[in-house]
Amino acid sequence: MKILVTEGNPSGSKLAYKIIRDVNENGGKVFGFATGIAPEETYRLLRESDVDFTDKISINLDEYIGLSNDHNQSYHYFMNRHLFNEKPFKKSYLPDGMGDPEEVIREYDEILEENPIDLQILGIGVDGHIAFNEPGTSFDSTTHISYLDESTIKFNSQLFNSIDEVPRSAFTMGIKSIMDCKKIILLAFYESKAQAIYDTVLGPITEDVPASILQKHPDTTLILSKKSAKLLPENIITYVSDEEI
Ligand code: GLP
Repeated sequence: MKILVTEGNPSGSKLAYKIIRDVNENGGKVFGFATGIAPEETYRLLRESDVDFTDKISINLDEYIGLSNDHNQSYHYFMNRHLFNEKPFKKSYLPDGMGDPEEVIREYDEILEENPIDLQILGIGVDGHIAFNEPGTSFDSTTHISYLDESTIKFNSQLFNSIDEVPRSAFTMGIKSIMDCKKIILLAFYESKAQAIYDTVLGPITEDVPASILQKHPDTTLILSKKSAKLLPENIITYVSDEEI
């Protein structure tokens, strides 16, 4: 695991943007995207760049169950707004939140099988979840339905009018599928993620902290802020100054 610590945003996002651009220019064909606040600035940089994705494929991590694709809190809507409307891909896949569960799950696993992900962008939940793989999810999981933890519902309610509107379940790519991605970058900038980051990097590899499995991934880079990295010892981080980015 490589741990890069920046001043925060926009520096960390700029670093992520550069990695995505490099992978795109160097033959990367399939990009895995995350939603959330952490990648927003990176998507803005991509939108405003001359990066061309028109012959590439994107696959998103997850989608709320019960929200239609045009619901303003759906991840379809988020991705269109933050990236795809201005940077279209040849094909973009997200699970259909209104689809028949069995079919959605089978189709998504087929899509992942046929399109190995070259670069996956991840965020992390306050409870250490990646995508919507909550604590306790099997490390062998593929696409499945996740029932969201209370802490996730509470955190994600920031983007809804009220906590009651947050869906209680979601389709999510599984942990095995995430581990199959060739390269991963995980973005975390808030101080509220500091404990989850500590557990991910230095804690035991356990299904109680889904992101801890990334310790075993051959090419994962954590892009952090000083705040989210505050519990990590100096000797395991690489500080990247604004001048270097
Ligand atoms: C949601 C998403 C995750 C994301 C997480 C963190 O739960 N399903 O994929 O990583 O939020 O979000 P943020 O980027 O806002 O910190």
